Amino acid sequence: MLPCQRHLFDIPEDVAYLNCAYMSPLMRSVVEEGNRGVARKAHPWEITPDKFFTGAEEFRTTAAQLIGATADCVAIVPSASYGIATAALNLPVRKGQRILVLDEQFPSNYYPWQRLAEDRGATLSIVPWPDDGDWTVAALKVLRDDVAIAALPNVQWTSGGRLDLVRIGDACRKFGTALVLDLTQSLGALPFNVREVQPDFAVAANYKWLMGPYTTGLLYVAPKWHGGRPVEENWIQRANARDFAALILYTDKYDDGARRYDMGERSNFALLPAATRALKQLQDWGIAEISGTAGALNRQLALMAAEIGFSSPPEHLRAPHYLCLRRKAGIPEGLSETLASQKVFVSVRGSSIRVTPHLYNSANDVERLLACLRQIAGP
Ligand SMILES: Cc1ncc(COP(=O)(O)O)c(C=O)c1O
Repeated sequence: MLPCQRHLFDIPEDVAYLNCAYMSPLMRSVVEEGNRGVARKAHPWEITPDKFFTGAEEFRTTAAQLIGATADCVAIVPSASYGIATAALNLPVRKGQRILVLDEQFPSNYYPWQRLAEDRGATLSIVPWPDDGDWTVAALKVLRDDVAIAALPNVQWTSGGRLDLVRIGDACRKFGTALVLDLTQSLGALPFNVREVQPDFAVAANYKWLMGPYTTGLLYVAPKWHGGRPVEENWIQRANARDFAALILYTDKYDDGARRYDMGERSNFALLPAATRALKQLQDWGIAEISGTAGALNRQLALMAAEIGFSSPPEHLRAPHYLCLRRKAGIPEGLSETLASQKVFVSVRGSSIRVTPHLYNSANDVERLLACLRQIAGP
């Protein structure tokens, strides 16, 4: 358990922000890093060619440490969708095979597979919502050797249900299924290691649990896919990119490892240093500690909310940082706006109230949400 870290953020006393899954607030130190980055371009003569590479490599190395990979396996992408598009462009799928997604999966990890299935004469196979809340068993039931790709998250985003990716990774290897992960709602708040799960591709947008700026993200690419085709062909992915004077000596060779999948203008002098700063702070705190601390707040909330008629998935089947509350009578229309007017911030996704605290929250924030829920529940 970590003590409350609110002093590192610019969150007014009367704001109960329990909505990290929507987007995290930036830490003061991250804002400062970003401001310094924007100001850098006031003096472009100081942005020497080596700076196109050093900041990117620092981000890559820091991101790699977070997932137990090497920097060579990390590409810099603007969004989860870009990472999924990269995977979809490179993974083989034959006519008659299946691509696996979860019920109510996030659209960025659904549409590309729907399109790919259509293009290749494959079918999209949707893991049905499990009555018992166990997404791992539900996914394993439909995973067979005709599944070419399993495109999954670590946390199903409308239920908060957690998938055991180690077991799923094992099953994928047994069936020869490629594993593609969207970790946007988990990386930074739930421990994850590529050596244990062995995905083919894994992407995370930075602006939620990685506490970085919008339009930055990381893509893990397993070594077996390092020879693939990038979504775009840009100059900085190529092997000769460090010699600016010789860029027109076109080359077929790409830079090493996953760097060939970097997006254009990946050297982003404003946002990348800010994203790196945030990743370093997460590592200083420790991901297991973040998970435990956010989890303790949610555990308390789940217990109290149950007493007034809000149910949530059993603790062993949900992600600690991500609590989805449901109610037989349903969620009143405009609930998140009503709460926002009282400066209590959560999201409604599907038929759940999604509560996603972080280290800037305290028991007091949870108590304020509970007070609002009690009003809804009535006497
Ligand atoms: C599970 C999940 N994946 C991805 C994203 C963001 O996708 P993108 O980076 O493509 O905008 C979100 C945003 O809410 C999300 O919840």
